[in-house]
Amino acid sequence: MSKKLFIQTLGCAMNVRDSERMIAELTQKEGYELTNNEAEADLILINTCSVREKPVHKLFSEVGGFVKNKKEGAKIGVCGCTASHLGSEIFKKAPQVDFVLGARNVSKITQAIKTPKFISNDINHDESEFAFAEFRNSIYKSYINIMAGCDKKCAYCIVPHTRGDELSIPFEIIKNEVTKAVLSGAKEVFLLGQNVNNYGKRFSKEHRKMDFSDLLNELSLISGLKRIRFTSPHPLHMDDKFLETFTSNPVICKSMHMPLQSGSTQILKAMKRGYTKEWFLNRALKLRKMCSDVSISTDIIVAFPGESDEDFNETLEVMKELEFEQIFSFKYSKRPLTLAASMPNQIDELTASKRLKTLQDLYNSILDKISKKQDGKVFEVFFEELKENNQIAGRSDNNFLINVNGSEELLGCFKKVKINKTSRTTLYGEIQD
Ligand code: 5AD
Ligand code: SF4
Repeated sequence: MSKKLFIQTLGCAMNVRDSERMIAELTQKEGYELTNNEAEADLILINTCSVREKPVHKLFSEVGGFVKNKKEGAKIGVCGCTASHLGSEIFKKAPQVDFVLGARNVSKITQAIKTPKFISNDINHDESEFAFAEFRNSIYKSYINIMAGCDKKCAYCIVPHTRGDELSIPFEIIKNEVTKAVLSGAKEVFLLGQNVNNYGKRFSKEHRKMDFSDLLNELSLISGLKRIRFTSPHPLHMDDKFLETFTSNPVICKSMHMPLQSGSTQILKAMKRGYTKEWFLNRALKLRKMCSDVSISTDIIVAFPGESDEDFNETLEVMKELEFEQIFSFKYSKRPLTLAASMPNQIDELTASKRLKTLQDLYNSILDKISKKQDGKVFEVFFEELKENNQIAGRSDNNFLINVNGSEELLGCFKKVKINKTSRTTLYGEIQD
């Protein structure tokens, strides 16, 4: 009987991809089979996130739960960003953990499972980072890493300490991965990095000069590839060349993530984001003008140290002006190793909660307005997921979630859909052809 692997993945798309890579190594090289049932697993992996404090706190209670439910002799591995940052402290706090594997070290998974108390959590580049067996959660849509790490050091962010310095992956490796994904059925790829539009700044070996716009244009020529998405670009690097490439290349989906973080220039400065409110507005308004059907999503942090009511109001004003199609909003969370952790003027929890609620209420009213505007419109939808009640879900080019009545044979297909019902988070419609 084959050995069973249970894997729990928290956090961002990068972690989802890292989990796919560990699954690939373990199923193809070590004979594991995936299970959804932790109690029958021989190996339990938790791929952790450390960007906010809560999931880090939860980690140890989760390990406790696994220890209680697991099969005798089953191993537990803690991987990902919290493994990078806590390292051997994890063994001290949870002695039942068998190995610790940081976010830049997931390529060592086969070694980790065979070595008692294995730990690897350094954040320096090692060439094995790029070499993996192949496994993908979806055959229709593939995550492709284009860079590792981040050089930005935003004052609130722990990522540079868990994923190390920024390094672009050589073009030939990326092209090869995209080609392989397309040959095995993918029509859409999602390019991943902390700072994708800074692609090409640093490679581990000599490499021809290439920026993110060049990368997008070259990848878009791969035959059979219908859609390219990417996350996350940085507003600072949204130069005209990038906006023009984004707008004019039909393979690039018209959905842009522009993480604002704050609408106050003063707070942006304290955050070390490198741009002002005016620069952000200039880029976003230019984009809306160049590309009329673009949808723009954003990340916002409320109650960063020193944020006054006026600063927070500026964030609300930017939201009203730009009417983002999607907002991921967070209360500032104090993270170790970051500059903001030692800032004197931390904001109390009550104010933070109130601001988050105000922001989310405003966002909901914007969202209601945007959803209603889509009624009667026709979108090209790529169907990816079967739902209950004979519904099937897909995304428009500009990333609206759209459901229609339909069955399995629509999976992996593109169809024109006319919207006939809207809700805050989902549009509903009928297939036209
Ligand atoms: N507190 C709250 N939110 C954070 N993010 C990153 N670090 C923190 C933090 N310390 C948010 C940012 C980022 C998103 C991925 O997570 O908005 O864009
Ligand atoms: Fe963190 Fe800033 Fe890098 Fe994004 S750009 S990962 S927020 S340091």
